[in-house]
Amino acid sequence: MTRTVYVNGDYLPETDAKVSIFDRGFLMADGVYEVTSVLGGKLVDFDGHAVRLERSLAELDMPNPISKADLLEVHRELVRVNGIDEGMVYLQITRGAPDDRDFAFPDPETTPQTIVLFTQNKPGLAASPMAQKGMKVISIEDIRWGRRDIKTVQLLYPSMGKMMAKKAGADDAWMVQDGFVTEGTSNNAYIVKGNKIITREKSNDILHGITRAAVLRFAQEAQMEVEERNFTIEEARTADEAFITSASTFVMPVVEIDGTQLGDGTPGRVAPRLREIYLDESMKAAI
Ligand code: PDD
Repeated sequence: MTRTVYVNGDYLPETDAKVSIFDRGFLMADGVYEVTSVLGGKLVDFDGHAVRLERSLAELDMPNPISKADLLEVHRELVRVNGIDEGMVYLQITRGAPDDRDFAFPDPETTPQTIVLFTQNKPGLAASPMAQKGMKVISIEDIRWGRRDIKTVQLLYPSMGKMMAKKAGADDAWMVQDGFVTEGTSNNAYIVKGNKIITREKSNDILHGITRAAVLRFAQEAQMEVEERNFTIEEARTADEAFITSASTFVMPVVEIDGTQLGDGTPGRVAPRLREIYLDESMKAAI
């Protein structure tokens, strides 16, 4: 089945969808994005993603070309026409396509922004086999720019990090800056010591994950202790458990870091429990 996508107000078959070669998303990575998961044909935490999108745009002095209500309508329509039960909706907004390449921002009055949305069908996303097995991560240096709190489409280094992990026989890479873990290539990173969940605090150094916010809230409601502070790879390698969170993986246990197994090398007690709570609560609240 040909996927139906959304480009600047139109619903089109993916093969007919076009964006200019002068688009600043293409030439300058001058764009922001969001990924919202779909469970049971409904959107998980749409509000959180819409709020973060608004913030990313504002931080880059980009107007918001679409209202929250219209954005919700487009998400729902794409999920409906593409028959998505489990998967994701990807959204990207760029500063548009001026007449020529220029470092200076174009005038938003004369250069409309580009807005693109498409769905990704992932049957079995919630019942992922990796959640049973756990994932392996390696550590790499974090050499990204200083505004990782803005969800921009500059994803070259995270892509390179994924390839470094793949080459090392691992599933992902945790990035390290000044000796401390920042986050995974496309997820937030956590360790567990006893009943305590430890994750880096929010700053410009990491993306403020929408899944992170929900999981920390659920953890506290389940009487687990949450500590937002820096941790090193050495501390992570000797932790009881580790895990990641993101809209596409929910909560995913980490069982090996830089070749060192955590515990007996299988997912522990906390991460699988948090995954279960997250999936239950998200499905209940999905719209
Ligand atoms: N990535 N950190 C980074 C660098 C990310 O790219 C992401 C999300 C997260 C988790 O944020 P959230 O919980 O809001 O998904 C943290 C998305 C899923 C992606 O790029 O596909």
